[in-house]
Amino acid sequence: MAFDQIQRVVAALESDIASGPIVPHVAPHEIRSYLSSRYDFTEPMRLDDVTADVERMMRKWQVQVTHPRYFGLFNPSVTLASVVADTLVAMYNPQLATWRTSPAANEIERHTLAWLTGKFGLPATTSASFTTGGAEANLSAVIVALTRAFPEYGDGGLRSLSASPTIYLTREAHDSFNKIAHMTGIGRHALRAVATDRDLKMDLADLARRVGEDRRNGLVPVMVVGTAGTTAAGAIDPLPDLARFCRSEELWFHVDAAWGGAAIISPRLRGHLAGIDAADSITCDAHKWFSVPMGAGMFFCRHPDVVGEAFRAQTSYMPGKTAGPVVDPYTTSVQWSRRFIGLKLFLALAEHGESGYVGMIEHQARMGDVLRESIERAGWRIVNRTPLPLVCFTRDGLVASKFLAALYEHQIAWMSEVRLGDEAPVVRACVTSFRTNESDIEWVVREMSRLALHESEVTA
Ligand SMILES: Cc1ncc(COP(=O)(O)O)c(C=O)c1O
Repeated sequence: MAFDQIQRVVAALESDIASGPIVPHVAPHEIRSYLSSRYDFTEPMRLDDVTADVERMMRKWQVQVTHPRYFGLFNPSVTLASVVADTLVAMYNPQLATWRTSPAANEIERHTLAWLTGKFGLPATTSASFTTGGAEANLSAVIVALTRAFPEYGDGGLRSLSASPTIYLTREAHDSFNKIAHMTGIGRHALRAVATDRDLKMDLADLARRVGEDRRNGLVPVMVVGTAGTTAAGAIDPLPDLARFCRSEELWFHVDAAWGGAAIISPRLRGHLAGIDAADSITCDAHKWFSVPMGAGMFFCRHPDVVGEAFRAQTSYMPGKTAGPVVDPYTTSVQWSRRFIGLKLFLALAEHGESGYVGMIEHQARMGDVLRESIERAGWRIVNRTPLPLVCFTRDGLVASKFLAALYEHQIAWMSEVRLGDEAPVVRACVTSFRTNESDIEWVVREMSRLALHESEVTA
């Protein structure tokens, strides 16, 4: 296949997107009536025409998350290699449920995951799999932790447990845990919101107090979730302390490093993840800071035997297990049919090399510093502290929603609104593109200040 053609298309698209608008202004009925007027599917259409039309729609009616001035929710700009990878995967359509059906693809994933397993400092025997994203990886962690704590959970279900399980996290942990508590049947009330310090990190004393109290009340504490890079503010929980606490209390230590995990490969940043090597399980998304297209999460667990028990499956219509040191992913993960998710990370890593990736990640961390300094210099108040490139800010009287509406209206940038703790909403800006540079940031901050001057547009 002519990949140089893909390269040309991607390069043209990139510069097209970067020079166009970031935020669409459209109502649902506009898109719906457009689609109804053109696509009743009665007559075949030329693929070229439909593709061009879909592209027009995506250009016009989408927040352009790969735009260098998208400071958003961890949706990255994507490397060329990862786009090529997704094209290849779609064409060969390998089925990764069993090793035997797709030996090459399974081994490529295994090889890639083993590389990151080593970076996290987990043992080589660690079980690792690609997931659709961080939510699935977190779900996997809870299922596996429950399976270890309650061997009867798999067959007898929750009703067979002698006492109720509890999980400890902070209010800053990702909200997927609320869904997971519902889905696994432990219920949302099983989640204990541990207090945080002023930097929004988990408070160890409160954790110890709650675990003790729950034990005294006959509950069974199972798991502590430490977040390495919270979604709202980029806070990193005190991982070494949590690791020690979990070891002494015999609790499962899960680290949700969906976004921040990629920092492990950076000599400049990896110190902030110290303690992650003691985790029982880790969530890390390739489709965040590893800059590949969605959906590509990863789940790592140092207890392969428990993973095998949690996702045990055997049926005559599936090919039998291949002899030797191989696993069939449908027996070690949530998914059954499985896309070749890992190729995009493999190909991008191979093309850029580890040093290229370190360069991309450290560049974004540096741009985070530039953004923070430049926002502060322009008179805004920074309200979060993190080594990751995420800045939360406000100024006296600012109404975040009004400010953001004006920011979008003028196509200055995409940022979002967030509440930290019980405080009033502030503006959240996260560097998610390896293409964002100093001049993008300078321009955006200058334009933001100009907007802020028009007090009535952005204040109460
Ligand atoms: C800390 C954290 N964990 C988990 C998730 C969920 O990941 P995903 O959207 O890939 O399912 C996110 C998403 O932003 C996140 O920030």
